[in-house]
Amino acid sequence: MAQAAAKFAAVLFTVAFCAPGVARAQSYPEFSELRLKLGRSVWIETCKPCHTTDIAGAPQVSDKAAWAPRLKQSRETLYEHALKGLFGPKGTEMPPRGGNAVLTDDQVKAAVDYMITIVSH
Ligand code: HEC
Repeated sequence: MAQAAAKFAAVLFTVAFCAPGVARAQSYPEFSELRLKLGRSVWIETCKPCHTTDIAGAPQVSDKAAWAPRLKQSRETLYEHALKGLFGPKGTEMPPRGGNAVLTDDQVKAAVDYMITIVSH
């Protein structure tokens, strides 16, 4: 009985948490370059929650108009803002390293590269 309950709970967990996560993760393009593969996994884990929903007022990857003025900056400036954080004029905040302090500079930069690539596609 306990075993059946545990199995039921495991199935529920899988359906509620894992399956939609996998489905969503797969809807973001994959690229063959290693750097973009690394960037994609960092991006999905750390950056996607803000950059695909309106919760923090972040520019959405689906919103080319929101990115157009930002993409006029150099890649170095975009890296710097992702690494050190940025407050926008409307009080919105890009937290340093997306709030994930364990990420290396290179992981953050790769995530920027991935996001820029999918925004520009
Ligand atoms: C907690 C929410 C949040 C997370 C997580 C987050 N961002 Fe952001 N990001 C923002 C917001 C908000 C802005 C817009 C800031 C502004 O200009 O007002 C932004 C802007 C940016 C910009 C544009 C900066 C510019 O110069 O215009 C880049 C690049 C960026 N984020 C990269 C990333 C990367 C890479 C990650 C993951 C490592 C990430 N973000 C995770 C909220 C987030």
